[in-house]
Amino acid sequence: MSSWRPGDRRPDKAAMLRVDQAGEYGATRIYAGQLAVLRRNAPEAKLVARMAAQEQRHLDRFNRLMAERRVRPTALQPLWNVDGFALGAATALMSEKAALACTEAVETEIDKHYAPQLRQLGSGDPELASDIAEFQADELEHRDTAREAGAAQAVGYPLLTAAIRAGCRVAIGLSKRI
Ligand SMILES: [Fe+2]
Ligand SMILES: [Fe+2]
Repeated sequence: MSSWRPGDRRPDKAAMLRVDQAGEYGATRIYAGQLAVLRRNAPEAKLVARMAAQEQRHLDRFNRLMAERRVRPTALQPLWNVDGFALGAATALMSEKAALACTEAVETEIDKHYAPQLRQLGSGDPELASDIAEFQADELEHRDTAREAGAAQAVGYPLLTAAIRAGCRVAIGLSKRI
């Protein structure tokens, strides 16, 4: 039974999957960029490696759903490939704490992106909703992990996180449309 009522806007589930897959893809690229720079035995590298594995699982799941439902990926994928990796590498080059601040900023925006999707889906698509709910919980855990590991100690933390969050919002907006 769908929670949709006449007069409600039907959620555009193809656009949802497209932007969600783009976000998870971007996340794998950010963490790959960080892992390319962070010292292998740094505690931050261990945290990031664990999160990267979860992002890959999220991405694999959305890839499968997109294939099943014949949804095309965003045309901006090549951009997120490069931009995601660059963001991860650049923050890790600044410092380990800056890498964590990047995680905190990105995961904050992804959480804010998934929450309204779950409201829009209601009970109309349990398969997609259960994946999104599960991934959202993982993203919140990533955000909290970064916080607890000292993200706020990064030099320029307020400006850095504000800039990254703004960048994420732009990327999310573009991936919905293109
Ligand atoms: Fe994710
Ligand atoms: Fe995440």
